[in-house]
Amino acid sequence: MTTAYPVTEHKYDVIVIGAGGAGLRATLGLAEKGLTTACITKVFPTRSHTVSAQGGISAALGNMGEDDWRWHMYDTIKGSDWLGDQDAIEYMCREAIPSIVELEHQGVPFSRNSEGKIYQRSFGGMTTHYGKGNALRTCAAADQTGHAILQTLYQQSLKHHAEFFVEYFAIDLLMEDGECRGVLAWRLDDGTLHLFRAHMTVMASGGYGRCYLSCTSAHTCTGDGNAMVLRAGLPLQDMEFVQFHPTGIYGVGCLITEGVRGEGGFLTNSEGEHFMERYAPTAKDLASRDVVSRAIAIEVREGRGVGVNKDHAYLHLEHLDERLIQKRLPGITETARIFAGIDVLREPIPVIPTAHYNMGGIPTNIHGEVVTHKNGNPESVVQGLMAIGETACVSVHGANRLGSNSLLDLVVFGRAAAQRCVQLIKPRTPHKTLNRNLLDKPLSRFDALRHAKGSRATAEIRLQMQTVMQNHAAVFRTEEILKEGVQQMRTTRESFDNDILIRDRSLTWNTDLVEALELENLLVQAITTLDSAANRTESRGSHAREDHQQRDDENWLKHSMIWLNDSAETRINYRPVHLHTLTDDVESVPPKQRVY
Ligand code: FUM
Repeated sequence: MTTAYPVTEHKYDVIVIGAGGAGLRATLGLAEKGLTTACITKVFPTRSHTVSAQGGISAALGNMGEDDWRWHMYDTIKGSDWLGDQDAIEYMCREAIPSIVELEHQGVPFSRNSEGKIYQRSFGGMTTHYGKGNALRTCAAADQTGHAILQTLYQQSLKHHAEFFVEYFAIDLLMEDGECRGVLAWRLDDGTLHLFRAHMTVMASGGYGRCYLSCTSAHTCTGDGNAMVLRAGLPLQDMEFVQFHPTGIYGVGCLITEGVRGEGGFLTNSEGEHFMERYAPTAKDLASRDVVSRAIAIEVREGRGVGVNKDHAYLHLEHLDERLIQKRLPGITETARIFAGIDVLREPIPVIPTAHYNMGGIPTNIHGEVVTHKNGNPESVVQGLMAIGETACVSVHGANRLGSNSLLDLVVFGRAAAQRCVQLIKPRTPHKTLNRNLLDKPLSRFDALRHAKGSRATAEIRLQMQTVMQNHAAVFRTEEILKEGVQQMRTTRESFDNDILIRDRSLTWNTDLVEALELENLLVQAITTLDSAANRTESRGSHAREDHQQRDDENWLKHSMIWLNDSAETRINYRPVHLHTLTDDVESVPPKQRVY
């Protein structure tokens, strides 16, 4: 197989797969410390999905009123419905402050308050005094915060001589004796294959929102890293937890930031009622996303939806000052005009809960090192492999992520992973020899798909998968709905395995094959999401079971870990939730591993 596909070899200290916020923050941290670093990405870095993050990045800076990272930590643990790992959450909320200051110094053009400090707005679930007041904690660059961060991190990475391999599609990890040795990738513009060897491979490949028919994610969000990890025989964690953002544009899916409600926007039903006052009398429209999404779904189900089909809600900004909208919300003003034909100064935006974020992913510790359940130890570190950002499950978001904690997760853990690599790897350490037979399996899979002669186009099977996910793994779930979904997804996967048709057999800019590889990746995540959801018989965070409506801490205060074999059979085991903080655990952590 290797002779049919000549493979060019590259050697680096570290490779980073993905160039969104997490990948770029790690790349920068590695390159500035002199580790030879390659960032491999299937899209141009500044087109990564982080570019579309709108509302902001949380940190208890206290620029607009009192704040404390401990309040942020409390909110995040509560928001996670107690499934988040408290040591990791402590780390994220403490490190938020220096991480944002660094971003500012690196050049992120944050909006400013009247004192010239970074502007901070209200976001759902962010409070002061452990739930008593409303925190202004989300640092914003108007409503284009992800865009601002991504541009800055890319420029800084170039300044520090990081190398970028742009429009390279990562096919599979190369694992030898349980250790990751690098990745095989396909260069899209000339069709050549490349073996990237590294002492550490950092997965920063994003979420898998495109499993769903309606999502806020870019078309590139196909969770390629998660799928590579499953194929490497490693587990994913908490895949049942998929966040629906309450305000995707109806019928299109584009995000309308929670920042709209943070600036005073509100939701209404067909009776013109400001219905969140009923569901969350204190937080109202700024309740956490799982609460607001369920409220909209209930309003629709009970016949109070708006529009011809009475199947969505309205988001109002018409009452806000026009200057405030122009200054703080210019991006969504344009998005609403282009995608919904709405002038936000005059009409409400039609919105619907839309798949937005995957809390689950590759399990890691707070340094970004991938862990697995091995020999009875659920914290066993997988040598040579890290994961950061949405592809990872640290787990700082548990069962439900608070808005603006995602950009924070990217930056804090991208930085942490780089710091860990600097501790572990001496720059330009020679590489061990590699068994080239490791390339056979991924190349055979690639070749088989390239020459597939079935009868169904990728788009047809993808639509089938997305429809099943939309109907069987959405805001509300029951055993019956989930089990039907589990079966239908197996059928969909079989159809992919036996009947997919690739029309373009070339290797150069073969988007037909790229989309098929992405679909294969999405399918394994759809299967593990459905199986994990069917397995968890409680309601927690974004996982709302109508047949098990209560949270069940006695049986389910634990992370699920799921493995998938080549026959699409899954196996589930569990990992304890870390209920200790870093502070109360400090004595038991060996000095070398202490982070403070
Ligand atoms: O609503 C938003 O701006 C999204 C932010 C987030 O998901 O963190």
